[in-house]
Amino acid sequence: MVRRRRMVRKYDDRPVDPAVVDRMLEHAVHAPSAGFSQGWAFLRLDDRQDVERFWQATTPEESWTSMSDWLAGMRIAPVVIVPLACKDAYLDRYAEPDKGWTDRDEGRWPAPYWHIDTGMATLLILQTAVDEGLGACFFGIPPERIGGFREAFGVPSDHTPIGAITIGHRAQDPGTPGSAARRARRTADEVVHRGRWGGKG
Ligand SMILES: Cc1cc2nc3c(=O)[nH]c(=O)nc-3n(C[C@H](O)[C@H](O)[C@H](O)COP(=O)(O)O)c2cc1C
Repeated sequence: MVRRRRMVRKYDDRPVDPAVVDRMLEHAVHAPSAGFSQGWAFLRLDDRQDVERFWQATTPEESWTSMSDWLAGMRIAPVVIVPLACKDAYLDRYAEPDKGWTDRDEGRWPAPYWHIDTGMATLLILQTAVDEGLGACFFGIPPERIGGFREAFGVPSDHTPIGAITIGHRAQDPGTPGSAARRARRTADEVVHRGRWGGKG
């Protein structure tokens, strides 16, 4: 199932069974999280009007008049899930006695675990789509659109979207491949360093 996962950017308008979306979100909360902080949240948009509102809020107006193939394919997806990370949940959790980072200094963090954990939860959603025979795509929300997105959906300032996921039945015609499609997948041999940097895997 891992090898079958690919981002799907063109959907048809068949609805997605809400029970499937329930399963995706139940799987998402089984992701690992640093200190079991679970500083994530998921905005579930599975009503056509809400999905439209998402696209209106996150894409510039000119993209609606001359819609790109990307947007035309993506906006048909009947479900959008927005995974959000809450940094404060981590700073609070790690200030507890068993961790002891009471200064809440962000310099202590080897990597922003709030983004990592929400990303892991996102991958479980993407993999569940594969299991369910559906297509899904994770994509970014432009930084200048995040304010409008928050306003449209009443998202509090301590929760930051890490991106969004479209979910739906893949279109028969897969559409024009994106610019990244020309890139080859790097093999494990190319990226694994065994024993020491440069050591062959
Ligand atoms: C952090 C992240 C951001 C991405 N942003 C976008 C995006 O904004 N638009 C898009 O179409 N795909 C986006 N992708 C999907 C990648 O283009 C895709 O994963 C990559 O080309 C490899 O293809 P595959 O996932 O189908 O194997 C993103 C993927 C990740 C992990």
